[in-house]
Amino acid sequence: MLGSDRRGGEASGKTTGMRTSIRRTLRPWIARALRRLYLMGEAYVEEDLPPFANEPKNLRIELPRRLAGTERMHIGNDVAIGPNSFLFAQTYYPTEVMRPPHRPMPVQHFEPSIVIGNRVTATGALTIGAMQRVEIEDDVMFATNVLVSDGLHGFAHAREPYKYQPMWRIAPIVVGRGSWVGQNAVIMPGVTIGELAIIGANSVVTRNVPARSIAVGNPARVVKRWDSVQEAWVPVADGHEATFADSG
Ligand SMILES: CC(C)(COP(=O)(O)OP(=O)(O)OC[C@H]1O[C@@H](n2cnc3c(N)ncnc32)[C@H](O)[C@@H]1OP(=O)(O)O)[C@@H](O)C(=O)NCCC(=O)NCCS
Repeated sequence: MLGSDRRGGEASGKTTGMRTSIRRTLRPWIARALRRLYLMGEAYVEEDLPPFANEPKNLRIELPRRLAGTERMHIGNDVAIGPNSFLFAQTYYPTEVMRPPHRPMPVQHFEPSIVIGNRVTATGALTIGAMQRVEIEDDVMFATNVLVSDGLHGFAHAREPYKYQPMWRIAPIVVGRGSWVGQNAVIMPGVTIGELAIIGANSVVTRNVPARSIAVGNPARVVKRWDSVQEAWVPVADGHEATFADSG
């Protein structure tokens, strides 16, 4: 009995030994393969990017993505933008698909710029459209599906489709340093969001938002502001602070 136990013990010892040695051999191989795959992914994301106005370091704009007019975009370092994003510096309107079929339409020309600061991040589906200027300062954080557009399709009259009317209400947008823009927010033309502001999920920001305040809703109103004496967020009763000095 004792002998057979020993033999069984030897056999299972051998199996364990083999397993350990296979694991030891495979582990670095798997680690190398995974690293290679990761680097391939990185290269695919980064190397395929078109040229920008500058040479951003460590820029990630995940696939799928749509980029137009990148030579008019100045992008900071360590920027990470999630998939399904669309960055568009628009130099003219109408684009081909927006032309009216039965009449010529005068072409509008623009000199747009998109400036994105260092360490700006977006979870995904970020749309930035500029006909004049959109500036996103350092360390801004966008949740998913945010729209920032500095102009609107024209709707001067209701005689013909709006896509065949000239773009209008074009005015620059600034999103201040360190702000947090919540999911599905829309930032309208001419809006300046002050630094370290918070925009609530689903907000439509039609007016300026002061620095260090929280604005929510449609239209967005300031509901809180940072009190630096109390070192706390304090409620803002009527939200009027959201309406300081409209720009544009
Ligand atoms: C803006 C936000 C941070 C506010 O947080 P908070 O300071 O805890 O706010 P409160 O819950 O105290 O709400 C204050 C008031 O604003 C309202 N409110 C808060 N967020 C709102 C929003 N997104 N839309 C409309 N109203 C909102 C509240 O109902 C409350 O109203 P009341 O005083 O009439 O009851 C938060 O609500 C939010 O929207 N965060 C973004 C979430 C997101 O997008 N995450 C994605 C991952 S990054």
